[in-house]
Amino acid sequence: MGIAVKPILKAGDSGWSRKSAWAALANRGSSSVRLSRTSSRAGATLSRTQLPTQILWISLLPAGGTHEPTFWDHYDDLTKLAKEGKDKLAFIQDHGLTIVRCHDSWDRWPKVGIPWAWAAFLALGDEPFSIGCRNYMHRYDIEPTTLDELAARVARRCAALGEPPVQVTGNGKQKVSRVGIGTGCASDVYVYREMGCDVSIVSDDGSVYWREIQQASEAGHPVIRVNHGTSEEPGMVSLTKYINEHIDGLTAEHLVHPCIFRLVG
Ligand SMILES: [Fe+2]
Repeated sequence: MGIAVKPILKAGDSGWSRKSAWAALANRGSSSVRLSRTSSRAGATLSRTQLPTQILWISLLPAGGTHEPTFWDHYDDLTKLAKEGKDKLAFIQDHGLTIVRCHDSWDRWPKVGIPWAWAAFLALGDEPFSIGCRNYMHRYDIEPTTLDELAARVARRCAALGEPPVQVTGNGKQKVSRVGIGTGCASDVYVYREMGCDVSIVSDDGSVYWREIQQASEAGHPVIRVNHGTSEEPGMVSLTKYINEHIDGLTAEHLVHPCIFRLVG
C-alpha cells in the first residue's frame, strides 16, 4: 500500500524533542498506546493516506494500540485461549475496549517506523546505508569503533529502558563500522551478514544462540543482543507522535514499557 509520509523523526522538530521523548521512556507503564477521543470526528472513517491499514477501522472508544499481539499469538487465534487468555478477553469485552494492533506496517513505516526509531535512539544516524528483508532490517555505517565501545554505547542508551547491560559475542577489540539493526523479531544475523554488516544488533526473540549466533561467532561476526521490547520501545514513542500529528480527532498517549527482564545476581 503506497502511502506518502513526511519524515517526522528529526531532532529539533518543533513540538517534539528526541531528548525529552527518550527521557520519558525511563518512566514505567505498559507497552501500548492509549487513544482517546478529542472531537466529534472520532469514529469517522479514516483516510487511507493517514495510517497503516490496521488503524483504519477505529470506531469504538476507548481504544488502545499495541505493536505485539494481545493473546501471545501472531494471529490472535481466539479459539485456543488458555484461562489467562479468556480472562483477558472478558476484561476487554466487559470494558468495551478496541485494541488496534499496529505491527508489520509500523515495522516497515518509512522514516519513523520501528527500525528507524531504534536507529535514532541508538544515535546510529538518520538514513540507513541500505535496507533489506522487505524493509524490516537496516544497515547503518558509522565511524569505526571497537565492538565493546559500540556495545557500551548501546547499553548506555538501553539503560533508560531498564536494560543497562547487553549481551555481546565476539572480540571486544574488533573494529566494527557496518551495523545491522532490525525490528524485534526481524533481526536475522544471516541477513545482516548478507547485507555486508560487520556487527549485528539483534533482539532475544529474533536470534537463536545455537544457530546463527554460534555460527557467526565462528565466522568472526560479533553480535550484540537486547530484549525484544527494549528494541521496539522507541518505535512506540514514534507511533504515538505519528498518531497525534496525523489523525484528527484522536490523541494518543504512550504507556511506557521498559525491559521485562530483571537481572538478578
Ligand atoms: Fe516486535
